[in-house]
Amino acid sequence: MNLTLKIWRQKNANDKGKMVDYQISDVSPDMSFLEMLDVLNNQLIEKGDSPVAFDHDCREGICGMCSLYINGEAHGPDRRVTTCQLHMRMFKDGDTIHIEPFRAKAFPIIKDLVVDRSAFDRVQHAGGFISVNTSGNTQDANSIPISKHAADKAMDAATCIGCGACVASCKNSSAMLFVSAKVSQYALLPQGQVEATDRVLNMVQQMDDEGFGNCTNTGACEVECPKGISLENIARMNRESLSASFKG
Ligand code: SF4
Ligand code: FES
Repeated sequence: MNLTLKIWRQKNANDKGKMVDYQISDVSPDMSFLEMLDVLNNQLIEKGDSPVAFDHDCREGICGMCSLYINGEAHGPDRRVTTCQLHMRMFKDGDTIHIEPFRAKAFPIIKDLVVDRSAFDRVQHAGGFISVNTSGNTQDANSIPISKHAADKAMDAATCIGCGACVASCKNSSAMLFVSAKVSQYALLPQGQVEATDRVLNMVQQMDDEGFGNCTNTGACEVECPKGISLENIARMNRESLSASFKG
């Protein structure tokens, strides 16, 4: 396939940035999207040009590092896949592909397609954990009975990889889907009950402090989430938050 790529180039956080056109030829439909960008970068380096900076690590849908906005959709046109799992067979010979970074006030651009998502880390640090004494007296996990339904729901919430596609897809740049997944994975389990009140209050406060927008129930986040995190987690977090505000 021969393709035209329109890629956001921005030297640093203070640079204005602009879309730049590139032509790329002989792209195999079996290549991943990131492999296609690797080929482009090799060509740019051979010409003495600066390669396009983009985030990636595992390249198998686990780490949440890859984060491209492709043809107006977070992680591109396929469903339930991350950018690194997207294949070039989703495109046709002659296509023009627009590639931009995830855009949100709370995700400032560092360079080209790389954004700073450390706001998510700070939300997680505000309460996304349980405090357990691991000094040799740890209980066997199976000694705490948990219903299959609760275990399944908690596991579904825990599949959130913190990629930020929900924020990038939301017209309000809301992080509610991410934060609610992190709250839910503990709210559904007995181990999460001890710190439940502080957890939800602190994580929601940190989310607001980071400058994420409000949720207006458009549902774009759920559609674009590569892990299929459900909006029911947002409803659960709202219930947890209301109940905690009465207790706290
Ligand atoms: S909820 Fe989905 S889109 Fe949002 S950070 Fe988690 S995995 Fe990514
Ligand atoms: S590079 Fe790890 S999820 Fe895409």
